[in-house]
Amino acid sequence: MVASIPAPILERVSFLHETLHYHNYRYHGLDDPEITDAEYDRLFQELRALEQQYPSVLTMDSPTQRVGGSVVSELISVTHQIPMLSLDNAFDDDTLRQFHKRVQNLLHTTENIQYTAEPKFDGLAVSLIYEKGILVQAATRGDGSTGENITHTIRTVRSIPLQLYKDYPEQLEVRGEVFMPKSGFYKLNERARAKGEKLFANPRNAAAGSVRQLDSSIAAKRHLSFYAYGAFAADSQHWPQNQSGILTQLETWGIPICKDRATVAGLDGMRDYYASLGIRRAALPYEIDGVVFKVDSLKGQEHCGMVSRAPRWAIAYKFPAEEAESFIESVDFQVGRTGAITPVARLRSVFVGGVTVSNATLHNMDEVLRKDIRVGDYVIVRRAGDVIPEVVRVLLEKRSKETQIILLPLHCPVCGAKIHKAEGEAIARCEGGVSCAAQLTEHMKHFVSRKAMDIEGLGSKCIEQLVEKQLVHSVSDLYMLNKEVLADLDRMGSKSAKNILDALEASKKSTLPRFLYSLGIREVGESTARQLALHFKSLDALASASLESLLAVPDVGPIVSEHIQAFFAEQHNQALIKKLLQVGIQWPSLETFEPQPLAGKTFVITGTLSMPRDILKARLLALGATVSGSVSKNTTYLIAGESAGSKLDKAYSLGVTVLSESALKDFF
Ligand code: IVH
Repeated sequence: MVASIPAPILERVSFLHETLHYHNYRYHGLDDPEITDAEYDRLFQELRALEQQYPSVLTMDSPTQRVGGSVVSELISVTHQIPMLSLDNAFDDDTLRQFHKRVQNLLHTTENIQYTAEPKFDGLAVSLIYEKGILVQAATRGDGSTGENITHTIRTVRSIPLQLYKDYPEQLEVRGEVFMPKSGFYKLNERARAKGEKLFANPRNAAAGSVRQLDSSIAAKRHLSFYAYGAFAADSQHWPQNQSGILTQLETWGIPICKDRATVAGLDGMRDYYASLGIRRAALPYEIDGVVFKVDSLKGQEHCGMVSRAPRWAIAYKFPAEEAESFIESVDFQVGRTGAITPVARLRSVFVGGVTVSNATLHNMDEVLRKDIRVGDYVIVRRAGDVIPEVVRVLLEKRSKETQIILLPLHCPVCGAKIHKAEGEAIARCEGGVSCAAQLTEHMKHFVSRKAMDIEGLGSKCIEQLVEKQLVHSVSDLYMLNKEVLADLDRMGSKSAKNILDALEASKKSTLPRFLYSLGIREVGESTARQLALHFKSLDALASASLESLLAVPDVGPIVSEHIQAFFAEQHNQALIKKLLQVGIQWPSLETFEPQPLAGKTFVITGTLSMPRDILKARLLALGATVSGSVSKNTTYLIAGESAGSKLDKAYSLGVTVLSESALKDFF
């Protein structure tokens, strides 16, 4: 009986409820925790202990009730009081324009219309009902009129509050999408793979499969999230006047709202948002398949009305599908700069991710085996953003008897040298070194690239011809080329030949980090090369460095150290360096190096800037700064250009100083 419980205990339980709900919201809703995980756990365990000691204090909305445990025998049907509508789709700009025109007609205006722009989350639509601020029912969309009761599994989704904050309406229905973030999806499939279980095809199926479980403890183990995109309240007296206001209001009650939303004006505003989210799509932590535009004003929405279960005030503008079906016609093996052999599938051409794709990487032979890919298979091909197209999985149900198993060749398809796959390594390598034309070509492309020796005009086609015609046998031979030889190449005139010679000459004035990077030592990227140069200050010191001194360099571990030592131990590498120095490559000494003004400061760059990002990055690095890709509490400055998005929000929420591009002049 509650009455027999001492008042201080009841007070403490109520305090713990409120505190834990609040910190849950900070962590899952705002992505901005105020306390450490350990502190959270301590409060959680305290509440758990009180609930065990005084079982009657345990309520359905207790934060301890997230872990699952309730099992239902079937999913019960639920009738939606207000139908859950669907959306009309647009796949091209023309349809978007027609939508906008129709809205203008319906609202009898030629003025620009305010729209809310939201990502179209690729998950599962759900309705959440809160009574007196407590989550009492969660249901799937079903056919729009009737869905299934999934309250037991939804309660395990940590970002969904079981209890709302102050000043909520008596009755509130929240509509939104439950989804599995990309990271959770990869982890889930990794675990399933390790156990030899069936994999989920995509995060949407994984989310749907999780919330429709009868046993909620299965859902509790899955990483699920939620974003609301609409709501209704019974007492709508103080209800906002527009969609964006509703979302902001929901946020104050602790309901998670996506930060990547915006309000935009007219057709141009919608187009800009669509384009910018399209660019960010691959980098978002959750899967989306388009954007949703909604007339912002609720009055406007009412005027527009709906036809056949889809409102006339909203439209889903879809992105090109990132996955499509194709067929593997053959498999080739490509040889990379370090000899790595990559199997590449030649596909029946297919339009995916907005382009026509006819090749897809199979990564390595372990992947081929794991995915059981064969020539003659029907496969799902994925091209997300600028990522190289890949084969996601085989459509086994379509496999014919004629498929051929893919075998690693014994010899390099380019130079004929042996192919070796080391024990425990996924990657097989050609042992031909730079005597392999493929490795030499790739090494040369790397050597001339912008972040390496930056030899402008010496493009891939040109390098391929030089190697093929045996005009060069090592990168140092590039500096021996003359105008006649260059001008004789296909698609090259004497003007371009001269430009290349000038660029070669100019490249001789280099820097130690650039030179180190251009050597193409395995695992030594731009940033490691810089760290090595700063640490050892001279090439000789690096070349003779002991393991201990290499390990003392930031970012350098045992594997990189081993590659560095192996590189300098090779006689042909020593000879190459000697030749490069003989042709006149040089760099300013780092021995008398000035302490760097931006040392110890971490920058993140976001949005559109007037100067190319890698140039800005190079300048900052040159001044000793660290440049990182994501904002955290360790970020010193965020440089925000135009249309900066979530990084800007995160910087503000973490209190990171935000600089505009013009403020940068103080540093340079
Ligand atoms: S609004 C009246 N907003 O898309 C409008 N839906 O095709 C009803 N969806 O079942 C939905 N993100 O599962 C809306 N920002 C968003 C959305 C969204 C994803 C899904 C939702 C719905 C389907 C409609």
